[in-house]
Amino acid sequence: MPLFKVDTPLARHILTQLRDKNTNQVLFRKNLVRLGRLLGYAIANTMEVEELMVETPLNVYARGIRISGLDHVVIINVMRAATPLVEGLLKAFPSARQGVVVAKRREEKFETSPKEMQVDIHYYKFPEIREEDNIIVADPMLATGSTLLNVMKLLEKEKVRRRYIASVLSSQYGVERVMSEHPGVYLFTVDIDPEINSMGYIVPGLGDAGDRAFG
Ligand code: URA
Repeated sequence: MPLFKVDTPLARHILTQLRDKNTNQVLFRKNLVRLGRLLGYAIANTMEVEELMVETPLNVYARGIRISGLDHVVIINVMRAATPLVEGLLKAFPSARQGVVVAKRREEKFETSPKEMQVDIHYYKFPEIREEDNIIVADPMLATGSTLLNVMKLLEKEKVRRRYIASVLSSQYGVERVMSEHPGVYLFTVDIDPEINSMGYIVPGLGDAGDRAFG
């Protein structure tokens, strides 16, 4: 699976504020939106381009390009923490169609590997998904990978052009787990942390993204 670390100075600056426990709810939520936008632009840069000519107001032709995939995007919002991230992704893909998944991890302590968590999918609804679509699954925290793998399973029968994951912060374990089960997926994340604690939280991490964004 192609792994893209969007670790530009601006993305790292925003992530550092997210990690800071003194960052308040409003700034936290706004920063998820900002990273959604940056991740979206990074994803757009990997889509196929075609060359074309346009006529300018000076009645001359200029060579340019078109990213046709921009018009064929379906964003899957893994609620609730992904909601601000999706708001940012929509800045990069304004015509995206959207699906939602309401998933909740059962926060039970695990003692040993494999670090797998039970995930309850309470509800999901997807728009019509077509072969020319690029699916972007938005989940800000890729920790054990259990939620994402459950969401990917819901989408496995869909024939699409490409599958993307947009995550703000991932664990090394989660990246490896998702990579081994979905070798064709394009994974975008700002940073990768080394550990997960026994409750399934990324360490050093940024805490519970949903609680911090929604208060
Ligand atoms: N979900 C979160 O919100 N934080 C983590 O660290 C892991 C999963």
